[in-house]
Amino acid sequence: MSDALDFLVKARPEAMGHYFAFLKDCGGRLDPKTRNLISVITKVHAQTERGLRQYLRRALRDGCSGEEVLDALLMAFPALGLAKIVWAVDVILAMDLPEFAFVAGSAASAVHAQGWHDLGPAGSVPPGETRRVECAGRAVFVHHGEGGWRVFDSRCPHQSTDIPLALDGQVLTCPKHGWRFDVGTGACTEHGDRPLREWDCRLHEGRVQGYW
Ligand code: FES
Repeated sequence: MSDALDFLVKARPEAMGHYFAFLKDCGGRLDPKTRNLISVITKVHAQTERGLRQYLRRALRDGCSGEEVLDALLMAFPALGLAKIVWAVDVILAMDLPEFAFVAGSAASAVHAQGWHDLGPAGSVPPGETRRVECAGRAVFVHHGEGGWRVFDSRCPHQSTDIPLALDGQVLTCPKHGWRFDVGTGACTEHGDRPLREWDCRLHEGRVQGYW
């Protein structure tokens, strides 16, 4: 929710409660994917980047594919116009989402070409420590825990902010809205409701590798 909406909810709880109930009831007969796609289009129409990032992630989580999002954007061309669609695609590409890697030869498809990626020698991360490693177009957190190695994407599950490695003990905090994560498990421990994305990892000939 935006800061402005958050403020209005606190300042006028009854009126805003009616507003949200109205919105919920309006979409009550639509399936979740359709509801999400309409929400994405409204955010593009209003050109609110934060809202677009939030609702796009929700749409993908609820089963929409990148192709479907693109179709919805293009179908809304009469209302959006080309400039807003291009703006939205710029935002989407900046989010670096694997769901949009389906266009062969695009930067997104190169970044998301699947395979094992070398993340450095195992000896470079002592037990109990974490390193941020950039590799093949993305950054990851490599954690050497008691139970073994874990590799997490550096992008925040909230709105894809690229999180720097600034740890307070084992707590990682996204600088944008303050979601907190346990860097050893990826779990969101405060302010948010979704964990860091985890990549498969393995030790191969003394080196840590991640798969994406
Ligand atoms: S982008 Fe909002 S908490 Fe990270």
